[in-house]
Amino acid sequence: MNEIKGLVFDLDGVITDTAERHYLAWKRIADRLGIAIDREWNERLKGISRTESLELILAEKPDCLLDAEEKEQLLKEKNAHYLELIAEITAADILPGISDLLEEAKSGGYRMAIASASKNAPLILERLGLSTVFDAVVDPETLTYNKPHPEIFERAAQALGLETHECIGFEDSLAGIEGIKRAGMPAVAIGIPVFGEWLPDIEVAVTKDLKLEEIVRKVTMKERVEG
Ligand code: BG6
Ligand code: MG
Repeated sequence: MNEIKGLVFDLDGVITDTAERHYLAWKRIADRLGIAIDREWNERLKGISRTESLELILAEKPDCLLDAEEKEQLLKEKNAHYLELIAEITAADILPGISDLLEEAKSGGYRMAIASASKNAPLILERLGLSTVFDAVVDPETLTYNKPHPEIFERAAQALGLETHECIGFEDSLAGIEGIKRAGMPAVAIGIPVFGEWLPDIEVAVTKDLKLEEIVRKVTMKERVEG
């Protein structure tokens, strides 16, 4: 039986509600291009890199052909607007229940990592006052593959000095759940309405429903049953 020793967290939509701000920043770009996106459509952008997100938006309007320079400009604009939207974030923007969960995990001796596709993750962690809480933050610029590939979760476990099956991954995106499961890590899904091929081990509707002791107990029991 595997003992859980580490916790691997996505950032946007798990630690703080920046997922909504990513959506608003993309929506402004999409509106300008005459491409209709809404929150339901946006689910597919969660966990996906900046460049891939733009490609998914542009794919909605096949006659909107942009060259590399124009795309680069849109990516810059999206990030500039996103940075404006996160300019004011503080520790008050940590999602409900997360601070208690992190504190409980720290005092329980769990090692903790951030596995986020966002290049802005270190800045956000600093603004939230969480920079020193995590033992590792995977730098997405050092990855070969993006979520749903398991690489980021494998690297997070490695950075903690643990095997993937000794960690639990927390995600609010379908791409993330797939990555966690393909890494061989138990997965906790937060607020994901519908699943595809990859199913989480535990589902909660909102972060305040995350109860660490219960999650670790359920995951450990499940592993014992499934061997
Ligand atoms: C992920 C978000 O965490 O980071 C995506 O879920 C976002 O929506 C991606 O596109 C990349 O973020 P950034 O900050 O590097 O543009
Ligand atoms: Mg997320």
